[in-house]
Amino acid sequence: MTIDVYWRIPTHGDRQSFRVDGAGRGDWYPFVPGSSNPGLRDGEPDGLTYLDHMGDVARAAEAAGFAGGLLPSFPMTDDPWVISSALARETKTFRYMIAFQPGFAHPLHVARMAASLQRLSGGRTLFNIITGGGGPAQEWWGDPVAHDDRYARTAEFLTVLRGVWDGRPFTFDGRFFPVRDTALPPGLTDEEFPEIYFSGSSAAAIEAAGAHSDYYLSWLEPLDALRTKFEQVRERTEALGRKPKFAVRVDIAARPTSEQAWKEIQRGWELVDHEAVARMYSANGSRGDSVGAARQSQFSGGDTPRDHRDLIVSPNVWGGFSFLRGGPALSIVGSYEEAAERLDELIDIGVDAFILAGTPHLEEAYRVGEEVLPLLRSRPAADASPAAPADRPHQLTVA
Ligand SMILES: Cc1cc2nc3c(=O)[nH]c(=O)nc-3n(C[C@H](O)[C@H](O)[C@H](O)COP(=O)(O)O)c2cc1C
Repeated sequence: MTIDVYWRIPTHGDRQSFRVDGAGRGDWYPFVPGSSNPGLRDGEPDGLTYLDHMGDVARAAEAAGFAGGLLPSFPMTDDPWVISSALARETKTFRYMIAFQPGFAHPLHVARMAASLQRLSGGRTLFNIITGGGGPAQEWWGDPVAHDDRYARTAEFLTVLRGVWDGRPFTFDGRFFPVRDTALPPGLTDEEFPEIYFSGSSAAAIEAAGAHSDYYLSWLEPLDALRTKFEQVRERTEALGRKPKFAVRVDIAARPTSEQAWKEIQRGWELVDHEAVARMYSANGSRGDSVGAARQSQFSGGDTPRDHRDLIVSPNVWGGFSFLRGGPALSIVGSYEEAAERLDELIDIGVDAFILAGTPHLEEAYRVGEEVLPLLRSRPAADASPAAPADRPHQLTVA
């Protein structure tokens, strides 16, 4: 059995550390003084572009043994298609997992972009299909479509994307994307169809994932909740005659000792402006209609904790990461050994792939790749599995 381990490319800015307030890397935060690694320059920006920083992260993650990187897509991020096509030329084996919401571009247009990207990267493109969590983000996109209809649109999009891929004329009488006798042009039809990671926790998401995903992707949740959700996906996928695979996306704060890891969290916690966070939540009025996001806050134990320890969900699982950097709440905190044990537990309940991350993404790629992954009950495929395809050197083979 092999496990694919990915890192994250921070398309949304990167802090220098949880212990430093505000300052980030490159020119992503031009409005924050001291943002461009100005150490020896008296606070003056040093001209490091944010694209350079993302390239540094991709190269470091590749060197540290990760199979590739997820490029998230939110209203406040760089565009994953553009960034991955630039970075593909700077790495050799590193794969680029593009997050995007089907529906904001026509599937034929996306098929052409993806096939071109496969060609220029040597087949290193894959997708995280996201369907949108409603609320202000969905409004930002100008998307009025309701939750379950968005999944119907996603399913239709993926049907058309696959349908046009092989170059034979494809007709589909769709509600969102009707197409008639259309296909990719010759020259783009020899590329491998990108692997599909599929995110979303609602019943509509699980239904669509069953039909269209290669990997069902979840944020970290307590083991019992994940096990139950995976079982639902498995049932649905197998009912359609397909074989399910599972992936988990989780941030890791690992240090040589557990005490050091928790100290890091505590120092980050001391910088959180809790009143601003509370104001942000009440100003939003609604956090949208994302079932997955609602599950994260349900498991994490509330929005107004007094102490970071109030948010410990289970040993080495902390529900406060959304306070430190936004996004999902549950993360792994502990010694290198403890972090590896938690990942091994996830492998035991059926996880086939991970998307890991840490802040700052550059240094933590090396740390997690060099200190945590070698402690898994798994070994790099390069020395353990001659059967591993030559172009996937970073798979782990579980002992
Ligand atoms: C691992 C993971 C990564 C996600 N990444 C993104 C993202 O980059 N951009 C985004 O808008 N939504 C992202 N989402 C949100 C989901 O795609 C989906 O919109 C949300 O969970 C609502 O679906 P649900 O109601 O079925 O849970 C992500 C979700 C997961 C689980």
